[in-house]
Amino acid sequence: MKAQSKASFNPTFCYFEKSGPVGIAIFGAHGDLSNRKLFVSLYSLWTEKNLHDQFYCLGLSRTPLTDESFREMVAKALREHLPSVEEPKKAEFLEHCYYESLDVQDAEAFKKLALRLDDLDQKHKTGNNRIFHLAISPVLYEKTISQLSAAGLCKEDRGFARVIIEKPFGRDLESAKSLDQKLKESLQESQVYRIDHYLGKDTVQNILMFRFANAIFEPIWNRNFIDHVQITVSETLGVEHRAEYYEASGCLRDMFQNHLLLLLSLVAMEPPPSFRADEVREERVKVYHAVKPFEKNTLDRSIVRGQYGQGTMNGRKVQAYRAEPKVNPQSNVETYVAMKALISNWRWQGVPFYLRSGKRLSSALSEIVIEFKRVPHLMFSPYMEASIPPNTLTLRIQPEERISITFQAKQPGSKICMSDVTMDFSYSEALSGSTSGAYGRLLLDCILGDQTLFARQDGVEQAWQILKPILETWQKEGDKNLSLYEAGTSGPKEADALIEQDGRKWRPLVSGE
Ligand code: BG6
Repeated sequence: MKAQSKASFNPTFCYFEKSGPVGIAIFGAHGDLSNRKLFVSLYSLWTEKNLHDQFYCLGLSRTPLTDESFREMVAKALREHLPSVEEPKKAEFLEHCYYESLDVQDAEAFKKLALRLDDLDQKHKTGNNRIFHLAISPVLYEKTISQLSAAGLCKEDRGFARVIIEKPFGRDLESAKSLDQKLKESLQESQVYRIDHYLGKDTVQNILMFRFANAIFEPIWNRNFIDHVQITVSETLGVEHRAEYYEASGCLRDMFQNHLLLLLSLVAMEPPPSFRADEVREERVKVYHAVKPFEKNTLDRSIVRGQYGQGTMNGRKVQAYRAEPKVNPQSNVETYVAMKALISNWRWQGVPFYLRSGKRLSSALSEIVIEFKRVPHLMFSPYMEASIPPNTLTLRIQPEERISITFQAKQPGSKICMSDVTMDFSYSEALSGSTSGAYGRLLLDCILGDQTLFARQDGVEQAWQILKPILETWQKEGDKNLSLYEAGTSGPKEADALIEQDGRKWRPLVSGE
């Protein structure tokens, strides 16, 4: 039963900074990420007046395009990905967009790029502040950075020079360290912005507000009151057109190394002394250090991996992962992972964190569920035989953003009849806000020089460290212990067994209430 809930937003405190002048050069401007996310975010920041008037966007990729045809491409991306685009605003925005075709292997092209940037800096009076967003394959990161450096574009003598890189940051601990080594040859840590777009989501940031701006939750946020935590990121999409990337990655690298462990760290971290970038990141990294190392010989008690087979989604037949274009027909790559993690510290001793994520599941939803301990004594017996369900707190991140608490209430009339009721706060009903999305927020923070919502190298390495025994074991095992699940279901049955061995159950995968 759902309780009536009303919420309205009266800001108690709003801190907002507007960006200064800047030029943003996007490597991979012809690619999927740019077209789906980056242009839309920049446009939204622009229309919401969060971007300074002295701004330009320079698209870069190998494809030969003129400024004009690039602008048409950006306009098309806006039409496809935004519900409405106002003509005059769009035209004004497009005047800030330019294009240069460039092959990252070509040193001469970077010299040309330096001249083009100088021109655009002068034209738009950006004070030579530049951001280079690497929306390209990670195998090109090192080369691109060394070319930027050789062309003098990593220097900060006239304005700032910041580089945004997308995950994956390496594919294991060793490669992550080696990538960092390469970055450090050309850049200071303060110039590197490692994006995990989950940190740009308002509802993810809200975990910190919820925990640390309210006094009522923190006293019960520990092993004395919490039975366990479930973190779910489930997708209905399959591998789509990303097989080349995904075949070298798989769900553990794609989702756990970053998004899932990030959510875990936000739920489990201690309150930082302040909201300053390093203090928040410090506390998150401490959680990674406290995650109990997985032991190779008992891995099957803590991890399940699966791969989708064919099935039916929304009445439509979908093919198995192994039958997807560009996927190896014998692929052992996992598209689903369920994990039981323990955190060895005073606050969380003995409280399991169950994490799961997968593709081609029955619903698309991301949520964190905190399940509290049951009441210690059943004073309603003998009228009630069954034990009373525990209270739960759900932080729903996607698709609808909401926070809900379930508790027991007496049904009117009868002597003793209780029912689960849910008190629900919905973001979309109570608050309206920016449409620039997670990427917009992160781009803005990068322009402002705020690294709070970006990953720090020690956190990246520690996350790889946590996953190391799992990756090594799977590498050896091939397809042993890889469970197939039918597309459109809630995942492999072995994942149910993982949580049921502890006498608990997964929350149903149901999006929308
Ligand atoms: C990306 C992964 O980081 O996150 C994708 O590479 C995944 O595989 C995506 O689909 C999920 O992001 P969101 O914002 O749609 O939940």
